[in-house]
Amino acid sequence: MASEPTPQSTPEAAEPLLVLDDIQAGYGRAAMVLRGLTIEVPPGTVVCLVGPNGAGKSTVLKVASGLLKPRTGRVLVAGRDVTGQGPQQMLTSGLAHVLQGHSVFREMTVAENVLLGAYTLRDKARIDERVAFVQELFPIVGERWKQLAGLLSGGQQKQVEFARSLMVDPEVVLLDEPSMGLDPKATATVFEQVTRMRDAGTAVLLVEQNARRALETADLGCVLDLGRVHISGPASELLADPQLSELYLGGRPAARAETGGA
Ligand SMILES: Nc1ncnc2c1ncn2[C@@H]1O[C@H](COP(=O)(O)OP(=O)(O)OP(=O)(O)O)[C@@H](O)[C@H]1O
Ligand SMILES: [Mg+2]
Repeated sequence: MASEPTPQSTPEAAEPLLVLDDIQAGYGRAAMVLRGLTIEVPPGTVVCLVGPNGAGKSTVLKVASGLLKPRTGRVLVAGRDVTGQGPQQMLTSGLAHVLQGHSVFREMTVAENVLLGAYTLRDKARIDERVAFVQELFPIVGERWKQLAGLLSGGQQKQVEFARSLMVDPEVVLLDEPSMGLDPKATATVFEQVTRMRDAGTAVLLVEQNARRALETADLGCVLDLGRVHISGPASELLADPQLSELYLGGRPAARAETGGA
């Protein structure tokens, strides 16, 4: 495992779908949050970014989706430099962002919530095709299509958010703490859906507090510390590293396994 701030090695040498290259970013006059951060998301992978509260995980996703412009560094999607584009252009370029917390409109139906994700699409046949796709991927979305989204459980609402993000058929979906506030069963379903998204052809950059569970789901992992990627590599190697477990994953794997902790 590398312990230097270099991009993670990829299982195969495919060109990454998303590259954040040497990013410096922050808010106003405050000190930089990201200080030379580099992350790559190869096709067909879930890349998980872990780190303590306030480390800058959400900031990384905001830079990727155009909500925050980097001071320096580049954002590349499928080899194309999209640095400085705003959120709508980023969406069109292939980056969809599912924000931290809950973002369904409770007083709108599941259908209306999902179709909000299609606002950049013009072709009715294309929209119908995408609706069929997300309903197949997330069966609950199809089953509850005409119900108010507020009547769904937290985990089901998260799947509505996933469905909305996939309407534009993004290259990479950016997921910020999808398991936040969910019970263990709903958390397990949400992580299952993350791998289903990957298997259906969308790469995922996943940010999680629930670091151990997220790394068990991910193909590659990165640990964010002091505004840079401190450690990166195959998720299974990060999970097996005792020092990393102690520092970032809340103790040793064996100790957690005894409690069955989800
Ligand atoms: N809109 C903002 N304006 C000013 N500072 C901000 C803003 N958003 C975040 N920050 C600051 O940037 C730093 C990183 O925040 P960020 O939300 O990226 O962390 P995080 O790793 O996602 O944390 P958490 O695990 O709590 O979600 C923090 O010091 C935070 O206070
Ligand atoms: Mg956050």
